[in-house]
Amino acid sequence: MLLEVENLEVAYGDYQVVWGVSLAVAAGESVALLGPNGSGKSTVVNTISGLLPAKAGDIRFNGVSLVDRPTHARAPLGIAHVLERRRVFPHLTVQQNLFLGAWHSAARAARGETAQRIFGLFPRLLERQNQLARTLSGGEQQMLAIGRGLMALPRLLMVDEPFLGLAPQVAQQLQSVFETLKSEGMAILFIEQNVRLALSMAGRGYILEGGRLAIAGPAATLVDSPEVRRIFLGV
Ligand SMILES: Nc1ncnc2c1ncn2[C@@H]1O[C@H](COP(=O)(O)OP(=O)(O)O)[C@@H](O)[C@H]1O
Ligand SMILES: [Mg+2]
Repeated sequence: MLLEVENLEVAYGDYQVVWGVSLAVAAGESVALLGPNGSGKSTVVNTISGLLPAKAGDIRFNGVSLVDRPTHARAPLGIAHVLERRRVFPHLTVQQNLFLGAWHSAARAARGETAQRIFGLFPRLLERQNQLARTLSGGEQQMLAIGRGLMALPRLLMVDEPFLGLAPQVAQQLQSVFETLKSEGMAILFIEQNVRLALSMAGRGYILEGGRLAIAGPAATLVDSPEVRRIFLGV
């Protein structure tokens, strides 16, 4: 397994919100981490990337434990995290935002070439490479946030609610970019509330409920599961 999360517990101060969560992503695999609003999805991925400390449990990437490594020492191993709500630097240009994603030495050495590849995936970013990020539409900002993540040359891309608030046409464009990345062998962890959308792109899924793993399995099983319907709709 490329990523292994084992019995993860996470708390904000005394307020524990993640309880004994285990999950895994193999090299080149696409996996969905699903759950209703507030179920702990972002807390789990923020802990994987090191933005939050784990209270207990282990996180391994390529067999190496990450829990004692700061965030900046995790990215060079090959993990990219596109945060919820597409955080881009509004007063920097598209190209400056992209280059900031290539801060570690291996990524920096390849940044010109990687940027060309990203412009190939997202022609809109090429057209707007010298514009300030704040002038981009929501969809273009999401493309930029993903592009910045890719600039770090990840083996695993974790994307937190990439489709939120996007027009259907833009969402479709993003989906086809994810398909391309998958076909190139990148592992992707999709964090989503939209079960059908996420399971159309991922082979397997994990569903969180109240910070605990409620159910996990192949996409085809989850998509028609009454248990999943209960978790999301309460019926
Ligand atoms: N910074 C924070 N401080 C305290 N509680 C938080 C913080 N961020 C999230 N929470 C709480 O942790 C729980 C899980 O939140 P989150 O991981 O954001 O869920 P999701 O991403 O599934 O919507 C929620 O109860 C939320 O209110
Ligand atoms: Mg979230």
